[in-house]
Amino acid sequence: MNIFINKKKLQFHLQNNEISYIIAPLKNNHIGNLYYGAKIEHQNDFSHMIQESDYVLPDTPNIFEDNFGFTLDTVKAEYPSFGQGDYREPAIEILQKNGSTLTDFKYKSYRVISGKPSLESLPATYVEDGKEALTLELTLEDKVIESELILTYTIYRDFPVITRNVKVINNSSEFLNIKRLMSMSLDLDRDNYSIFHLSGGWSRERQFIEREVKHGKLSINSSRGTSSANHNPFIGLKRGYVDEKVGEVFGFNLIYSGNFKGSVEEDHYGITRVSMGINPFNFNWELESQKEFQSPEAVMVYSNKGISHMSKTFNTLYRTRLAKGIYRDKERPILLNNWEATYFDFNEKEILNIAAKAEELGIELFVLDDGWFGARNDDSQGLGDWTVNYSKLPSGINGLSKKIEEMGLKFGLWFEPEMVNKNSDLYRSHPDWILEVPNRKGTPSRKQFTLDFSREDVRDYIYESLEKIIKTSSISYIKWDMNRPMTEIMSNNLPYTKQGEVAHRYILGLYELLEKITKEFPHILFESCASGGNRFDGGMLYYMPQGWTSDNTDAVDRLKIQYGTSMVYPISSMGAHISAVPNHQTGRITDINFRASVAYFGSFGYELDLNKITLVEQNLVKNQIIFMKNNRKLFQFGDFYRLRSPYKGENTSWMVVSKDKREAIVGDYTRLINANYGFDRLKLTGLDPDLEYKVESDSSIQNKKGKGDELMNSGLIFGKTFFGTSPLNESIGDFKSRIIKITAI
Ligand code: DGJ
Repeated sequence: MNIFINKKKLQFHLQNNEISYIIAPLKNNHIGNLYYGAKIEHQNDFSHMIQESDYVLPDTPNIFEDNFGFTLDTVKAEYPSFGQGDYREPAIEILQKNGSTLTDFKYKSYRVISGKPSLESLPATYVEDGKEALTLELTLEDKVIESELILTYTIYRDFPVITRNVKVINNSSEFLNIKRLMSMSLDLDRDNYSIFHLSGGWSRERQFIEREVKHGKLSINSSRGTSSANHNPFIGLKRGYVDEKVGEVFGFNLIYSGNFKGSVEEDHYGITRVSMGINPFNFNWELESQKEFQSPEAVMVYSNKGISHMSKTFNTLYRTRLAKGIYRDKERPILLNNWEATYFDFNEKEILNIAAKAEELGIELFVLDDGWFGARNDDSQGLGDWTVNYSKLPSGINGLSKKIEEMGLKFGLWFEPEMVNKNSDLYRSHPDWILEVPNRKGTPSRKQFTLDFSREDVRDYIYESLEKIIKTSSISYIKWDMNRPMTEIMSNNLPYTKQGEVAHRYILGLYELLEKITKEFPHILFESCASGGNRFDGGMLYYMPQGWTSDNTDAVDRLKIQYGTSMVYPISSMGAHISAVPNHQTGRITDINFRASVAYFGSFGYELDLNKITLVEQNLVKNQIIFMKNNRKLFQFGDFYRLRSPYKGENTSWMVVSKDKREAIVGDYTRLINANYGFDRLKLTGLDPDLEYKVESDSSIQNKKGKGDELMNSGLIFGKTFFGTSPLNESIGDFKSRIIKITAI
């Protein structure tokens, strides 16, 4: 890893073993992009790579009166603004006192830092020692508005990763109105691109969606107050032919949990501009004199080894250098959550009964979900009143948690700290603590309202309420839920000029509280949740190493959800539970081994009353738990590879491989069976070509052993699916799966 600097020409080449990123001031001293892609040898001068025309381009504005070739209309810009001839998506817009939004930030100086500075008040990837990364800070200046812009780039030594963030410093005596400050903008050379992103909705989060990039603009965004299930803050770009194993891929992810925008625009010369940052829609930040504004971090991954290398990079970086705390590297406890078992309708006896069976079958952590506090007997009341409901739980959380621990289980508890029902003591005593527009009726969602987390007094109250329960009980795990999109995003605590800041201030407030609580209680494993996967993003992952992937626990639907999620987020971060059938979200019936074989590839648990399944199934559960305990290190900390896509047919397959490549587990799933399908082959990935492996599975697989090169190039051979007069093999049929263990001999 290196940052080469040509001090005379002011060219900056960020390079590691896999990538090169070259930038330099253009003729007008805005920063331009010369190259981003596979590593290229360093040269002392890259001037020839600057994409400038030496002839007059028709219909373009010219920055210089004596150089009609130089126009911002066609350059590859690093941080573009609108107003001087670049008509594409701008990265920055600052409204000034005179009504103009034109800014003209010109290169002023640079600084190289060993390692990676942390971002004030915002989550970001980090390093553990200064040798893991190098950081380049470019300072730009706009003399008219007396402000500086700091563009920060970090290159990692061990990953094909560049992270970016931006800061504005107002050195003037006036305030500035920031209307847009994207975390990154990048112009890529003319080529054939297609975009893929992770979009969906509640219960079908992070679906893999792909389409061609053509002349014009396409954006994904959220204005719901959370990063959302509708669009994850991720954009992938494929250049030319790409599949899991080959081709060039650019991945962009914003480490942020609130409103965001990611856009891709192909211009009239075929340059493709990608940008990502806080959603400028409805955003406005009044930056006072001598104050700074910091953008969230954008992570950019480049792979010329297909999508799987991009995912492996994101997965490993996020698991080891974004998630933090003692659980980062710990195998995650196998939990049972009572939500789908009881919903709001439970008492202590029933809970102990569910927990006792869970313990008997090998579960390690019992989680009590919604309904344990205030008058919370349904979702219309009690939210915000964080005092135990003694009529349901006569020994309190304190007593219950101890009883559960005495059984040999750890105890976990659900909170939804950011919300309130109007029918609650909290709302009755602080009606002004919710987000609302004065004189207008608020819009409920799930009969609840959003507490104004931009307010310190609200956050302090919530912290103290949680602290009291945590300190008086034995709590090892907290599920931090958040169950509605925001509306009426206004604060009673801010003047009208600052209302455009509320959505971002909310997220900053949330981060501040999460920082405090995770620091104060480092022994607690936190799991984030937002109506399932409504806020499954890098921002939350920084504080909480796992998240509830989706409220949809149907194993068939989970194939698509977990497959999509794995594009960016590590297996260890995906809460994956086995629930009852018929499934509560889809009504589908699948057998318990199929459900388990999907949930193994995640932070594994159960979401049902195990007393209510048959003895045969209880035995299967026992064995599933033993299997998971024996293999969870591999599942949660191995490298994950997608083999067959649930978006492309009835078969899905994926696998995990240990870092030393001596062990792997393949999950192979059939949605609807095709009769008389013939022989099927599955080529594996990530093994050591020279090692000899043992293959353990059901009898439908012909290979009993094989060298890594054979298993990856010729593949596993699945026996035929139609047996004429004999009964079908147990792994054949609708909703069937195989778990295949591969071990080096
Ligand atoms: C939404 C979550 O996603 C569920 O798992 C459950 O915790 C409910 N909230 C409880 O209200």
